[in-house]
Amino acid sequence: MKKKTVVFDAYGTLFDVNSAAKKCKEKIGSDWESFANFWRSTQLEYTWLRSLMKRHKNFWEVTEDSLDKSMKVFNIDKSMKDELLNLYKILSPYPEVKEVLENLKKRNFKLAILSNGTPDLLNQLVKNSYLDNLIDDLFSIEEVKVYKPDSRVYEIPVKKYNVKAIEITFLSANTWDVSGGGNYGYNSIWVNRNKSKFDLLDFQPKNEISNLTQLLDIV
Ligand code: LAC
Repeated sequence: MKKKTVVFDAYGTLFDVNSAAKKCKEKIGSDWESFANFWRSTQLEYTWLRSLMKRHKNFWEVTEDSLDKSMKVFNIDKSMKDELLNLYKILSPYPEVKEVLENLKKRNFKLAILSNGTPDLLNQLVKNSYLDNLIDDLFSIEEVKVYKPDSRVYEIPVKKYNVKAIEITFLSANTWDVSGGGNYGYNSIWVNRNKSKFDLLDFQPKNEISNLTQLLDIV
């Protein structure tokens, strides 16, 4: 029998994208969180624009470009740039991640990450959080050089594992990524950590959980 496959988004789902700015909150000041959110939304905007215009730059370059803009907007001293970028390479995982992955691994699931991140970035993230032995495959959009939610991205694990899209359980905390995966045909689950409403277009997630631990009850 084929192993059941669970594919995770990385940024925002397994790893806290705001943790880099949070670690510098004394230096940044009270609007550190608005700054972190702005950095993230600018980074995503750049990925979508680059894909639509067919002007690919990798996720690390896009992360740096969006940081430059965000630091200007929030008037953050240029000397902080390297510190923030270095912290972005070692973002903290959400607290429940390791235990959940260990549990799924014991239950013989195949576990993978599918992310905008470059192979190098993803490798560093999982190694730094001691998750490298738990994840079977790191799938990067660098293979197709177009960003999520383009269907060619979601096709990567389907082709590699030779399974139907619906056989893949896909988890993301990013609503637009949940929609992208669902639109492609995945069994898409939304990790809704902030008790938000899913109000993106007319796509609905197949399922919703408030943290990854709840996944253990539904797979
Ligand atoms: C990723 C972004 C979408 O990891 O969070 O692909």
